[in-house]
Amino acid sequence: MGTVTSPGNILTVTVGLEGQIPYYQVSRHGKTVIAKSRLGLRFKDAPHLDGGFTHASFAKTSFDETWTQPWGEKENIRNHYNELRMTVSDGLKRRMVLTFRVYDDGVGFRYELPKQENLGKVAIIDELTEFRISDPATAWWIPARGWNRYEYLYRKTPLTEISHVHTPLTMRTDKGLHISIHEAALVDYAAMTLRRGRGQALQADLTPLSDGIKVKATAPFHTPWRTIQIADTAGGLITSYLILNLNEPNKLGDVSWVKPEKYVGIWWEMHLGIATWGSGPKHGATTARTKTYIDFAAKNGFKGVLVEGWNIGWDGDWFNNGNVFRFTEPYPDFDIKLLSDYARKKGVHLIGHHETSGGISNYENQLDAALDYYQKLGIPAIKTGYVADGGDVTYTGKDGRTRHEWHDSQFMVRHYQKVVEEAAKRKIAINTHEPIKDTGLRRTYPNWISREGARGQEYNAWGEPGNSPEHTAILPFTRMLAGPMDFTPGIFDLLFEKEKPNNRIPTTLAKQLALYVVIYSPNQMAADLPENYQARPKPFQFIRDVVTDWADTRVLNGEIGEYVTIVRKDRHSDDWFLGSLSNEKARHLEIALDFLDPGVTYRAQIYRDGPKADYKNNPYDMVIEEKQVTRDSMLKLDLATSGGEAIRFTPLKK
Ligand code: NOJ
Ligand code: CA
Repeated sequence: MGTVTSPGNILTVTVGLEGQIPYYQVSRHGKTVIAKSRLGLRFKDAPHLDGGFTHASFAKTSFDETWTQPWGEKENIRNHYNELRMTVSDGLKRRMVLTFRVYDDGVGFRYELPKQENLGKVAIIDELTEFRISDPATAWWIPARGWNRYEYLYRKTPLTEISHVHTPLTMRTDKGLHISIHEAALVDYAAMTLRRGRGQALQADLTPLSDGIKVKATAPFHTPWRTIQIADTAGGLITSYLILNLNEPNKLGDVSWVKPEKYVGIWWEMHLGIATWGSGPKHGATTARTKTYIDFAAKNGFKGVLVEGWNIGWDGDWFNNGNVFRFTEPYPDFDIKLLSDYARKKGVHLIGHHETSGGISNYENQLDAALDYYQKLGIPAIKTGYVADGGDVTYTGKDGRTRHEWHDSQFMVRHYQKVVEEAAKRKIAINTHEPIKDTGLRRTYPNWISREGARGQEYNAWGEPGNSPEHTAILPFTRMLAGPMDFTPGIFDLLFEKEKPNNRIPTTLAKQLALYVVIYSPNQMAADLPENYQARPKPFQFIRDVVTDWADTRVLNGEIGEYVTIVRKDRHSDDWFLGSLSNEKARHLEIALDFLDPGVTYRAQIYRDGPKADYKNNPYDMVIEEKQVTRDSMLKLDLATSGGEAIRFTPLKK
């Protein structure tokens, strides 16, 4: 048996063999958090590595380093852990290493299969990793292996009522401890989902390939890190950088070409039905309309202009058209060369769009040409899309047979990775929609700037149903623990009564502003139409001012699904920005401004819900005011039902 404690003596992990089966256990301040939980791998055509281990040896090391993110929610991150490696061997003289890294804010562990004589190529049919949560807990979860991928509304239930869920899985024990299980550095492996066994025992369930195998690998290889983040407060999960720390350092070298930015785009009008992706009288991606967006972007300080529906393939039932998209052929009414040049002259650029509809062979066959094409045009970022139902991504092999795969299978993990690496060669950043979940790979591949991977704003246009008011109060503590999200905030015409009278944005206007700070992404869209911003120039000023690259992030308060207040410091100035939002309840919060610099007076530009604001009946009521504050000031936040508040703090004088 081996034991290792975190650098600050907060967490302790015990690893050993019991009845020749490997197990681990986690305690915090001496109290069990994860009870004895089993570990092991099972193979298709070889004896399993799930027991029969006769030897175990242990080795310990420590690590402490502070590294810098090229862009991010925090500039410098300390990576400080103690490591314990248990090497086990069985009667067939096969070796497996279980490596545990123990931090004050959580634990990461993985399986490593070294190069060895009696183990080479394997087909993993099961990973037996367990997480036996000790204390009764409540869980916030979305179902796994469903048709809608990661795009479900979160449910809150006792942990004993979940069945099969995605990670990050966030829980709160009855004693008030916050725990989130996820994984880090998911490369060339299947995603780990969690199935509940008896009571509160969670078991890894790897997403299978279409032939039923979970993972194909050859030793030496290792699994992704299985992660357990543990914090006293819900906000403590947000400011844990465990997932990033467990990823490999930047492999791309100089990535100054990856630029955090705000963008606008020809997008929302398609979701409202004003325009179409496909050709015809309502085609959205026209040269004229794109010029309007470029002008608007240039005038208001946005760097990017996304244009969807620009290429051949959208006509007809595009959801099922994965094999006809052409990634180098614009529609005739979209002059991409002219527009790229026009944009460049105005200091902005187009953002490319590759909707694949999950047709992977069609996309991979064109990938090099498609990326070269954008590179030549000077397009530095691409939004990709994989709208196919879960389990229905298609790939037609050389034998002419079409396979159907899951978005989070090893097959797709490899595909997404390939796109990011090929894009990096051409200095192009990728924002993946319908992605594999984020596992912190932006540290290794900083051009993987953002992704979707949860219900974004678009659901409010579709209304089937829209997102609930609590949705964005749950995301920071669940989906966002994985990494940045391209949520696409900032809808100002909240009711779109002309276009979709039965649907609406279920928030106040102030909450739309708060989202820019609360939901982190290095690329943030101002998602509404230029006309709707021009109609409300005063609140629009906040979107013009807010930045997307941060030196620091602090969570001032928050409860999962209830409310949250986050402040972030601009990486390139002394400004701070605050975002606070609530679920369907109105509430009053009081915050201390002690994150501000001492001896400095700041101007606070406040965008808050007005006294009559109420998301159902009066969502536009907003007060915009200025105050002078210092780090000794207290501030009252009055949030309406599904309301919010956004503040910019600018130093006035030293
Ligand atoms: C789904 C994406 O999330 C959305 O942003 C995009 O507009 C459509 N697919 C079409 O690609
Ligand atoms: Ca989507």
